[in-house]
Amino acid sequence: MAMTIDSRFAAALLLIACAGFASPDSAVLDFRSTFSDEPLDVSPAEGETVTEAVRQFHKTAKNAYRGEAEAIERGGAIFLERCAICHGIKANGRMGPSLIDDAYLYPKNNSDKGVFETIYGGAAAAMVPLRGTLSQDDILKIMAYVTSLRK
Ligand code: HEC
Repeated sequence: MAMTIDSRFAAALLLIACAGFASPDSAVLDFRSTFSDEPLDVSPAEGETVTEAVRQFHKTAKNAYRGEAEAIERGGAIFLERCAICHGIKANGRMGPSLIDDAYLYPKNNSDKGVFETIYGGAAAAMVPLRGTLSQDDILKIMAYVTSLRK
């Protein structure tokens, strides 16, 4: 009898421990494609490091790199390479829309969560998903750069 209680107790402890490990994942927000509204899988690509900023963004949609000089500088360098050809060096628009005005093709791009979903999962036509070719950490840095241009 005492043995049964002990093993139940042990099983309960194990469950609590597992729930503890599982909870960071279950707390991940619901990310959706801008184009199709299908759920976006934000689990890391092969070899991708999940940084603290990415982990936090998955849970809160708050960009830890906002206002961080080093991250903004790195984001700016990637923006020049990967985005400027379509959105302009200062992100004020070229064949792709301006990213620094208050006019949005997709209203959700008024929020960091929406912008992340658009960059990561793509939108229409030339705005292809950048998932897999940019790390989520770099996407957050690009976003911090674009935000810095808005002020
Ligand atoms: C090959 C051209 C091209 C590249 C490269 C590109 N974009 Fe775009 N982007 C577009 C086009 C075109 C649209 C409009 C898409 C639509 O109509 O659905 C767009 C839309 C967007 C939007 C939504 C704007 C709104 O008003 O809702 C964001 C945000 C965005 N792009 C960010 C980026 C960032 C950041 C990068 C670099 C990582 C990037 N794009 C790279 C062409 C591009």
